[in-house]
Amino acid sequence: MAIRQIAKMGHPVLRKKAAPVDDPTDPDIARLAADMQDTLEWIGAAGIAAPQVYDSRRVVVYRILADRIPSGVALEPLPWTAMVNPEITPLSDEVGLIWERCLSLPGLHGKVPRYKRIEIAYRTLEGESHKREVEDWHAMLLQHECDHLDGILYPMRMTDLSYLAFNAEPGVLAKEAETTPDLDMALRAMVEAWPAREKWLAT
Ligand code: NI
Repeated sequence: MAIRQIAKMGHPVLRKKAAPVDDPTDPDIARLAADMQDTLEWIGAAGIAAPQVYDSRRVVVYRILADRIPSGVALEPLPWTAMVNPEITPLSDEVGLIWERCLSLPGLHGKVPRYKRIEIAYRTLEGESHKREVEDWHAMLLQHECDHLDGILYPMRMTDLSYLAFNAEPGVLAKEAETTPDLDMALRAMVEAWPAREKWLAT
């Protein structure tokens, strides 16, 4: 097990369509997933896709931390989950805008349209086939991670780039934070720590 380097936006590995995994029970895939988990533990983050650690295969590892769940979202924390060859099917056309960050775009956040209800099918590291229906914030997280497997970064999904900002200046996010119940708690903390908040949002 090891902590791996994170590929940043601009590296070709992030633009490539990742290859399907033939055998999810291959020990090499278990090693990759373990390294991805170690890397997330070290950073304190929630999800990562294999291309982000320079490995162009269809593997995603994520967890749902209790302290990241938006206060308006009824969701239980989820232990580490490794997904091999995940496939997303939207369950309705309903799309919502949701604030996101990405380890491959350090220092930035943006508001991204995502399907609100999806089904995700994947293989486990033991080779079992799993299917799960998820919605809202959890669905956004999975769409974000699975997009990495197709060479898509969240700004490529954005329809209004005025909602792309530096974490050091979360002005637009701060304006909306009060009226956004499904805001990731880590983003809420970022807004609360913004020094310019009082001056610019007082009126
Ligand atoms: Ni990402």
